[in-house]
Amino acid sequence: MSSKVLLTGGAGYIGSHTYVELVAAGLEVVIVDNFSNARRDVLDRLEIITGAKVTCYEGDVLDAGFLDQVLAENAFDAAVHYAGKKAVGESVENPLDYFRTNCVGFSTLLAALDEADVRRVVFSSTATVYGKPDILPLPENHATRPESPYAENKLICETLLRQLKTSDDRWSYGILRYFNPAGAHPSSLIGEDPNDIPNNLMPYIARVATGDLARLRVFGDDYDTPDGTGVRDYIHVVDLAKGHIQSLRKLIDKDESHIVNLSTGTGYSVLDMLRAYEKACGKTLPYEVTGRRAGDIDGFWGDPTLASNLLGFKAVRDLDDMCQTSWNWVSRKTNSRNRP
Ligand code: UD1
Repeated sequence: MSSKVLLTGGAGYIGSHTYVELVAAGLEVVIVDNFSNARRDVLDRLEIITGAKVTCYEGDVLDAGFLDQVLAENAFDAAVHYAGKKAVGESVENPLDYFRTNCVGFSTLLAALDEADVRRVVFSSTATVYGKPDILPLPENHATRPESPYAENKLICETLLRQLKTSDDRWSYGILRYFNPAGAHPSSLIGEDPNDIPNNLMPYIARVATGDLARLRVFGDDYDTPDGTGVRDYIHVVDLAKGHIQSLRKLIDKDESHIVNLSTGTGYSVLDMLRAYEKACGKTLPYEVTGRRAGDIDGFWGDPTLASNLLGFKAVRDLDDMCQTSWNWVSRKTNSRNRP
């Protein structure tokens, strides 16, 4: 497959890992990023990992003129779209800001792509679009009940892609609903590095392991799960990234649109994650059980069957690999923009 792909948000956590896998698969990739939540030196690191020069345009997906210029200078076969905001709590506080970046940004990109005759899009969506599960594991045909502006934004973008396809059959889309990404690249050169105190479990545990945060707060141990703590479907970011290659193949080679979960099908509890991380970093990690976090649910994991049947996708990296690569990444001091 020698095709040229536009990768928006390619300097971010999942985007950068996807860049590596796309290049390894023989694709030519051009990154667009505004660096609002990514470091510029990610590009140097991507060059070290891939051994090839990175092409990146710095700019915003809300800037139609900028997108037109990028599209005029490159003949793309497809786009993979990550550029967006992803903090659920922040989306509740700033719904306008979220709508603008996530929905208006995406529709601006789609209009520019249409104009440039590029009509294959892989979209980074989220399993949060399902809301509270009626059944587990969650299949793709489960009802969608977004419970936050962020989840609603993602669902609106999914709907827009489906409507575009209905309006013009030349469009094809791969909508990928991610479960909980974790881990880092085995090179320890790229990984997750949140700007503020992390909201998510894995980066929070990582900061406890580095000593930057005193202890993990376990948000409730009275859930209906084996050990009482919340259970989620953690998927290695490298597996997640590889899923995009299979999705693109389906669009470029077969012209088949799809909506699939990127999940492992296995759930781990908060305490499972803490124990696995302790094993990886070789330390005991302090924690205290506090009250439940508003909006949290007992268990949430995906059905990976459709991704396997349709795309041949299977997550193969286990929990120990997620924790070990995360620890290798965060324990290198030069990797974090937040540590002295
Ligand atoms: C969150 C987001 C979701 C996003 C996903 C992956 C919310 C409501 N949902 O889901 O949109 O797709 O991350 O990025 O924010 N926990 C603790 N202590 C902590 C942090 C988390 O005990 O400091 C627990 C939570 O209660 C939960 C589990 O760890 O049981 C996972 O939490 P988190 O990493 O925030 O992911 P989700 O809540 O699944």
